Amino acid sequence: MKKNPKPSKFRLYEECVQSPNWQVDYLPQFHTWLTGKTPRKFREDFCGSARVACEWVKRDSKNSALGLDLDQEVLDYAKRVNLASLGSKTQNRIKLKCADVRKSTTAKFDWIGAFNFSVFEFHERKELLRYFKAAHQSLERTGTLFLEVAGGPGFLEASLEKQTKPVPGLGRVTHAWEQSQFDPITAVNDYAIHFKLPDGTWIHQAFAYHWRIWGIRELRDALQEAGFKRSVVLWEKADASGAPLHEFLPMDAAPNHDFFIAYVVGLK
Ligand SMILES: C[S@@+](CC[C@H](N)C(=O)[O-])C[C@H]1O[C@@H](n2cnc3c(N)ncnc32)[C@H](O)[C@@H]1O
Repeated sequence: MKKNPKPSKFRLYEECVQSPNWQVDYLPQFHTWLTGKTPRKFREDFCGSARVACEWVKRDSKNSALGLDLDQEVLDYAKRVNLASLGSKTQNRIKLKCADVRKSTTAKFDWIGAFNFSVFEFHERKELLRYFKAAHQSLERTGTLFLEVAGGPGFLEASLEKQTKPVPGLGRVTHAWEQSQFDPITAVNDYAIHFKLPDGTWIHQAFAYHWRIWGIRELRDALQEAGFKRSVVLWEKADASGAPLHEFLPMDAAPNHDFFIAYVVGLK
């Protein structure tokens, strides 16, 4: 009997980890609230398979997007699968480029997003600053840079969390998120994603990250140094038991949650 081919790790990641609809529904509303303008031109930094950029161009025929990533393999997947699923007119409004986000683009954007904690890829402050300065230069006059970050004691401890969910056309897939023990001297930690397929086989270390865990305050200071006029923190509301409510509010101070996801927004 013919065995099913192994699914792409990028497809598994999209199904188990990402929520591009949420990002495209909510973040531009914050842009409008902060700047008084409707954003149209979007750059997805560290775009991977460019799901957010694809969702953005689908939403409105006036929207356009550029995705930047250093990894040609994931960009090829993005073109073959995600861009190919768009109509030709929609496809014309999105471009992908294999490029380093630490270099500015000649095109300017209304908003730039760096999702899934990608800013943690930079370990040195001078690299972080180089990125923020390049992003600042690539923004329109009232542009915004959205950095999705995570933190809290629970993000720094060794742990393994598993979740199983149905993946259309595949069956039930287990997604395991593994954290190592944070090093308080280097401020670096290792994270990995493993998948268990419906036939019981595991794809170990489908994705592995070696991240510098920047604090929100450090990021805001660096944004200011890079020339951003001001920054805002969108903090996730929680219920009485501390469970996240998927609703974000601008906050100047916050409770020390065991784990949090937040957006640090730089305003040009
Ligand atoms: C954590 S993944 C995030 C993928 C995607 N943004 C998401 O939300 O799921 C980080 C991505 O950043 C890319 N990357 C790392 N350093 C980069 C750089 N300096 N410039 C552009 N892309 C970079 C990697 O190739 C990888 O695809």
